[in-house]
Amino acid sequence: MDKIVVKGGNRLTGSVRIGGAKNAALPILISSLLTEGWCTYENVPVLRDIDSIKQLLTHLGADIETKGHTVRINAKGLNNPEAPYDLVRKMRASILVLCPLVARLKKARVSLPGGCAIGARPINFHLKGLSLLGADIELKHGYVEASADSLKGNEIYFDIPSVTGTENLLMAAVLAKGKTVLRNAAREPEIGALVDVLNQMGAKIEGAGTSVISVEGVENLQPVSISIIPDRIEAGTFMVAGALTQGDIEIIDCEPDHVSGVIHKLRQTGTDISVKDKTIHVKGSKDIKSIDIKTLPYPGFPTDMQAQFMVLLSVAGGLSIISETIFENRFIHVSELRRLGADITVSGNSAMIKGVPALSGAPVMATDLRASASLVLAGLIAQGTTEINRIYHLDRGYEAIEKKFQNLGADIQRIR
Ligand code: EPZ
Repeated sequence: MDKIVVKGGNRLTGSVRIGGAKNAALPILISSLLTEGWCTYENVPVLRDIDSIKQLLTHLGADIETKGHTVRINAKGLNNPEAPYDLVRKMRASILVLCPLVARLKKARVSLPGGCAIGARPINFHLKGLSLLGADIELKHGYVEASADSLKGNEIYFDIPSVTGTENLLMAAVLAKGKTVLRNAAREPEIGALVDVLNQMGAKIEGAGTSVISVEGVENLQPVSISIIPDRIEAGTFMVAGALTQGDIEIIDCEPDHVSGVIHKLRQTGTDISVKDKTIHVKGSKDIKSIDIKTLPYPGFPTDMQAQFMVLLSVAGGLSIISETIFENRFIHVSELRRLGADITVSGNSAMIKGVPALSGAPVMATDLRASASLVLAGLIAQGTTEINRIYHLDRGYEAIEKKFQNLGADIQRIR
């Protein structure tokens, strides 16, 4: 098991390039199932989650070629409607193959993803929406069994704007007969990225980025060649690292519009941030001000940045409150941060963080993707050495993170 060892205290300077967005690449790679012919995807991040989805798509019958950050997929040979438990349990976003399989093969048997560390993660909106489009759906032996001779457009309302729920149902609606309207749809940039790809494939979708998305079904879609948008959460993670270490870093090839909430809240902590085209310049200040954060669906403050901000607020002057409104159990990193000397009290979905003068290094354990990123951030400023175990969580969503931090001047090593 690899681990990461960080010696705290180095100020980060220099520039870091942001890679392709994991949460855009996953649905976009899966959308190749909707057509026959070679689709080419550039700027695909090299991550465990991307490996998992390529393994699943191959299992379903697609041909895949990977060269560095370029992935080519041809789903002409798609012939297997079954996504088995041992593949789906590794990466719950695999549930996104459900609708493309029903749209292409008229049936699907996909393992229920089950929960994960941060919450129960139900998929009821995915299933309700697919049945509204005319599919018969049964849950048997831990699998979703869905079938539909033909899908028909309908009105679908999301009780909560679900990101993958919106993505899954978009990939059914594009090949359904007639018009589908998704109401209270998710507005994340990754939705817009998927819609851009589907429209380039010949779909007719309007309203991406708003909470009402309408789809005019078409007969079939054509292969596409596109580049994946930058990862806004990787960008946000490095922005916090610059603020934490009173550093002076440039974050390049990112999409500042996609991190406006993060920029706004970082400025409130006294961090100097300037934006020019695709570059964000972060200058950390000595005194970090305590602030309150509430995670909300986009364009609100992203839940995927909550753990990273908790590290920053743990060394701010004063009392901060973080309310996590998206997932019911996304404070697992609190107990690990406490081991590093943070003063945090959790009650319900709120965490109260009392700033301390400094954190002190210790061995800690990663539990989920963004929690593990927060432990690396804490290690950058903790006095002494911090050893982070179970970093396979980190490798799911961050490409070569220790190399990127080394290039910025951090004293960080991966021990195989
Ligand atoms: C996506 O997860 C992201 N994953 C998550 O990123 C991100 O944290 C989350 O959106 C919120 O932004 C991918 O895009 C692959 P949701 P998703 O459906 O789609 C409830 C990371 O670190 N809900 O928007 O699974 C759900 O329980 C990951 O990269 C239902 O009740 O999240 C949650 O409370 C972590 N029923 C809320 O909605 C459903 O059918 C939002 O979940 C679906 C969701």
